[in-house]
Amino acid sequence: MKSFEADQIHAEYPIVHNVGMNSAQGTFYITTAIDYPNNVPHMGHAYEKVVADFYARGNRLRGVRTRFLIGLDEHGQKIQEAAQRDGISPQAFVDEKAAKFRDLYDRLEVSYDDFIRTSEPRHHAFATDIYSRIRANGDIYKGFYEGDYCVSCEKAYTKSELVGSKCPVHGNPTTLIREESYFFRLGKYRDAVRSHIETHPEFIYPAERRNEILSRLSEDLLDLSISRSTFMWGIPLPDDPTHVLYVWIDALSNYISALKQPTDVFEAFWPADCHVIGKDIIWFHTVIWPAMLFSANYALPRQVYVHGFMLDKDGRKMSKHVGNVVDPLDVLNEFSVDVLRYYFLRTFSSGLDGKFALEDLEERYQSELANDLGNLVMRIAKLVQSRLGGTIRTSGHPADLAAQATLREYFDFVDTREHHRSVEALWSYIRKTNAYLNDKQPWKLSDGEALQNVLAAVLEAMRVIAHLAFPILPATARAIGASLGFEIGPIETLNNGPATYKVALGKPLFPRREKPTLTVASGESRDPFSILELRVGRIEEVREHPNADTLFAMTVDLGFEKRSICAGLRAHLKAEDLLGTRVVVLTNLRPAQLRGIESAGMILATDKEDGTVALVDPGNARLGDVATVEGISGTPKMNISKRDFEQVPLEIQATKVTYAGKPLRTETGPISCEAPDGARVR
Ligand code: MSP
Repeated sequence: MKSFEADQIHAEYPIVHNVGMNSAQGTFYITTAIDYPNNVPHMGHAYEKVVADFYARGNRLRGVRTRFLIGLDEHGQKIQEAAQRDGISPQAFVDEKAAKFRDLYDRLEVSYDDFIRTSEPRHHAFATDIYSRIRANGDIYKGFYEGDYCVSCEKAYTKSELVGSKCPVHGNPTTLIREESYFFRLGKYRDAVRSHIETHPEFIYPAERRNEILSRLSEDLLDLSISRSTFMWGIPLPDDPTHVLYVWIDALSNYISALKQPTDVFEAFWPADCHVIGKDIIWFHTVIWPAMLFSANYALPRQVYVHGFMLDKDGRKMSKHVGNVVDPLDVLNEFSVDVLRYYFLRTFSSGLDGKFALEDLEERYQSELANDLGNLVMRIAKLVQSRLGGTIRTSGHPADLAAQATLREYFDFVDTREHHRSVEALWSYIRKTNAYLNDKQPWKLSDGEALQNVLAAVLEAMRVIAHLAFPILPATARAIGASLGFEIGPIETLNNGPATYKVALGKPLFPRREKPTLTVASGESRDPFSILELRVGRIEEVREHPNADTLFAMTVDLGFEKRSICAGLRAHLKAEDLLGTRVVVLTNLRPAQLRGIESAGMILATDKEDGTVALVDPGNARLGDVATVEGISGTPKMNISKRDFEQVPLEIQATKVTYAGKPLRTETGPISCEAPDGARVR
């Protein structure tokens, strides 16, 4: 290990000035996907913004003029319909949701410079402008949009894309449509896009994604329908206001409209250096967007960075539809913001899918954040306090060669978009510093120069650590600075620190957690409904319980698994009435043995006045789908009791199951029950 001895301090400390391949103009413009605000923000949204934030902060830290854009994609049929359901205007609907997205991103310390919303006039102005440029180039014509339309996808499929006769994504029945639409001559740009991708290997990160796109580009490209006349919540075409722009031009043009107004910084920042997006919208960004830019005569972005998906701990995609979503707000109620940021940036290798496991987060909290970093800060602060009376002199710049190597490595990985490696480089330096302290054992040294030198070297190492931690753990970095007597500035300032530091004992950065919990505790304000997990199932097997006259023992298929469930329905229903029936199951009820047979869940039903029972009916939702209530989110609790369930009143209104006056629904439609108004679900 390199030592931190004073004789290795060298005054000309060359700090990395390599601004990387993507910053030819000396500026750095980074964007994220603009989110759909038809629901509340989820973990995938949070993850993407934090990844982009790392690259934005990393570039700012080394003095590159940086602009970071995030925002919302607010138009479209789904938003219009969701607003209608809530009985408010689409604008009021998106305003309310926008506040939620911004709150989360502010809480996560996403250091965006601008937040674009596609319903803003500044966006309308540019979206219409780029449409007109494309049109003036002869690339727009009127035709018919036809195919089998899925409402959830807002998209028509060709017969060959359907699975059976159903939507390949949602499994919904589709409807044949044929409507007038304007088209963009996407096909005309296939060769230009392909050749751009071939000659710019850095254009798509990671490389595997590039190959996927190139292979798709070897086939013919159909022209693209870019307008709709079936809903009006969008930007009207300037030359035919009976149509609004469909998502393609509307959403993608945000990356430029935000540079045009309120202040025109287009010249300084376009082309973008990095569009950060998820893998589901890669075609959109690497083929459609470049084709539009070619047509409108704008330079192409330098890179589309594709991150992986945030999966649940079992490797399944997190989505409300599947019901395995961990709500970022729940995690933030339990851990500080930096913990979640660290977990995102350290655990999920850049460009790959990652599994979100609370157990893993808990473990890293303890070993990497609390032990490696938190204790180190506390140790040095205590030593300077107790041995030097709280003030220490240093050379004012980092004392050892490992710092230089760490800086170089860290920023190289910023440029190669391997943020997890930047984090690793920093952690290896943190561990070296710990090892140095353990090796030198300053607590055993008597007062004098040797003691002073060891502590000074560690203090300077702490400045490097805090600066490099800043893009990952901004609040922690500031707290380290506050405790050890320095501020976080541009990386150059590492060369000329204050030389005398007044050290104060701060609070522990990552306090020992009293009772590490593996489930996320509920937030104060969470709605009681959010503790429930209600899923669609189908009864596959029905047997009379051998030891209980009232019970049926059943096997229920939940799509992703089958469960044994016992239910007291024998007095009311026959086995053959139940067999094959689709039901709604409370799936997070604590499993129990009922007279020797396991029961892991409860089938929802209501008692009618005539003594019969009506089962709750999920309609034709897919097995495993979750029943939700608009506006309520949160991670269901594990193993709830029957009493917990009874605290959440579910009531029939107009044959719909409701909670707090709002209908329960799946992606496919409402949940119903043939019972009188006011009947309680049990
Ligand atoms: N509005 C479009 C993007 C238009 S960009 C011009 C959209 N919105 S979205 O809300 O559905 O998704 C926003 C971003 O979140 C996308 O980059 C998407 O890939 C990402 N994620 C959505 N779910 C995700 C995970 N489970 N994990 C990680 N990111 C994922 O698409």
